[in-house]
Amino acid sequence: MALVPYVQNSLPVLSKFHNSSAQFRFADRNIRLAQDWKKLGVAAVVWDAAVVMCLYLELGKVELKGKRVIELGAGTGLVGIVAAVLGAHVTITDRQAALDFLSANVEANLSPELRQPVVISELTWGEGLERYPAGGFDLVLGADIVYLEDTFQALIRTLEHLCSDATVVLLACKIRYERDTNFLSLLRRRFDVEEVHYDEERDIHLYKARKLPTRGGL
Ligand SMILES: C[S@@+](CC[C@H](N)C(=O)[O-])C[C@H]1O[C@@H](n2cnc3c(N)ncnc32)[C@H](O)[C@@H]1O
Repeated sequence: MALVPYVQNSLPVLSKFHNSSAQFRFADRNIRLAQDWKKLGVAAVVWDAAVVMCLYLELGKVELKGKRVIELGAGTGLVGIVAAVLGAHVTITDRQAALDFLSANVEANLSPELRQPVVISELTWGEGLERYPAGGFDLVLGADIVYLEDTFQALIRTLEHLCSDATVVLLACKIRYERDTNFLSLLRRRFDVEEVHYDEERDIHLYKARKLPTRGGL
């Protein structure tokens, strides 16, 4: 299922995806990420949702120092890199096919010292979840990962597995189609969800979610 029509430089707004790199400044650091749309598609370009997520993290709205953080669908790794710079112990994940590209970007942007607590690993939503500690993270991050209806249930299963009642989930979302709001309805069955920020310029919504307590027996 396509996210948007991808014809090279067909729209000015898409042309940035065809640049071979993208540069940012977050947490007093220059970050330069390689992009390769032709080779890897959506996983190898930086999406606005990632930028909005980084701006939010930079504001210090969530505690990152020393926290166990996992990023889902990391793509080029911008969010995970910024979380690591801000002191988190980050596990940066994506599908297997995206990992080499992701690793190269992380390596290019983090000193050995900052890289040391960073783990890069494969996580295809809903699959092999037993490789990740149940409820083992303080914060779960996802930028522009709500766009494939076929993956919604698997993504929610993944969040349920990774989260304890105390885990905070932050999702930066571009709401493109009605089905994207369906995801939020599904999520609300298991999580308390609130919108904490809206970036008008980029049209990105930031949602914070916490797992609802599981009801006892009777
Ligand atoms: C639109 S891109 C967003 C990338 C990055 N988070 C950003 O905002 O720049 C969606 C990401 O989700 C990943 N993805 C898609 N389906 C997935 C799945 N079933 N399991 C894990 N990752 C998936 C893609 O590989 C891609 O990196």
